Amino acid sequence: MKFLIINGPNLNMLGTREPQVYGTGTYADLCGYIESICSERGIEVKLFQSNHEGAIVDEIQAAYGVFDGIIINPAAYTHTSIAIPDAIKSVGIPAAEVHISDISKREAYRQHSYTKEACIDTVCGLGFDSYKAAIDRLKEFVNAKNSTVL
Ligand code: DQA
Repeated sequence: MKFLIINGPNLNMLGTREPQVYGTGTYADLCGYIESICSERGIEVKLFQSNHEGAIVDEIQAAYGVFDGIIINPAAYTHTSIAIPDAIKSVGIPAAEVHISDISKREAYRQHSYTKEACIDTVCGLGFDSYKAAIDRLKEFVNAKNSTVL
């Protein structure tokens, strides 16, 4: 199984960025954590981070026919981008949405996600563990989908 993990704008600043909200772990720490979780589960993984909406759309399009699943933390684009969920729907790859913080308990403008409608599930508020929960959820979904294909 191959997963693409996408992190959006400012997540490269983890560790420095608002540690009271996002914790003290760096983006490199997050990548190491995701890689170890995926390797324990026998999942091949590619990590991608960009501060640019179009680059994220390009990466999702390039995933077509290559990846079995996408885990995405669109960061601020969660609340503004229609192009990102459109791209996920265009490629038809099962995707799960992740947030480090609990967006449902933050500012009103963070409480709506455009990404959500293109995803099988959303995990938020668990810090880096949100990624672990989303990986497990997506793995289960992809396995179930593959076992029903004749
Ligand atoms: C975030 C939540 C977003 O509202 C914010 O813009 C981010 C990070 C999270 O992981 O908690 O950049 O996606």
